[in-house]
Amino acid sequence: MDKLIGLCGSLRAGSLNRKLLHQAATLYGDCAFQEMSLDLPLYNGDVEARGIPQTVLDLSAAIKDADAIIIATPEYNKGISGVLKNALDWISRTQGGPFTDKPVALLTAAAGRTGGETAQYHTRHCLTPLGADVIASPAICIAAAATEFNSDGILENQRYIDNITTLMVKLSKRVQHVKS
Ligand SMILES: Cc1cc2nc3c(=O)[nH]c(=O)nc-3n(C[C@H](O)[C@H](O)[C@H](O)COP(=O)(O)O)c2cc1C
Repeated sequence: MDKLIGLCGSLRAGSLNRKLLHQAATLYGDCAFQEMSLDLPLYNGDVEARGIPQTVLDLSAAIKDADAIIIATPEYNKGISGVLKNALDWISRTQGGPFTDKPVALLTAAAGRTGGETAQYHTRHCLTPLGADVIASPAICIAAAATEFNSDGILENQRYIDNITTLMVKLSKRVQHVKS
C-alpha cells in the first residue's frame, strides 16, 4: 500500500487547508495516510548547532520514508505560509535529501478569488532546491474557501473534486512509476 504524508501550511485547528488535505488523501484511494505536524520551532542556526530538534528529524524521516507527499497550504499576503517555509528550511538542513525526487501534490485554499494561486507558485519555487518532484497540473486553488466546505468539512463543488481526483491519479501514477 502506498505511504502518503500530508503537510498543512496552517496550524489552526479549524484549518480549511487541513480539510482539503484529508479530502485529497481520501480521493487518492487506498493508501496509508498520515498528517505530520509543522508546529516546529523557528529555524535558528544556533539551535541547529546544538542539535536539530527531534520533531524536525521525525518529520524528515517520515518524508524520506513516504512514497508521496500532499501539501495543502493557505496564502499569506500573496506568499507562502511562514509555517510551511519554516518547515522546508528545517528539512533542508537534515541529512539524506528527504524531498529528492519525491512526488508531491500541492493544493491551496484561501479567502481570495485566486484561491492562493500566488502562494502555490511561490511554494513550488521553494520546493525546487529541495529536489521535489512536484506534479505540474492541475493547479488546485480553492477560492473563497470559507464558503466551499460543508458543515462536515467536505468540499462539495464537483469541478474541484474532479480536478483533485485528476491530481491524485497523477500522483499515484508517479508513485507507481517510481516503485516499478
Ligand atoms: C496573515 C494572513 C494573510 C492572508 N493573506 C491572504 C492572501 O494573500 N490571499 C488570500 O486569498 N487570503 C489571505 N488570507 C486569508 C486566508 O487565505 C484564509 O484565512 C484561509 O482560510 C487560511 O487558511 P486555513 O483555513 O487553512 O487556516 C490571509 C490570512 C492571514 C491570517
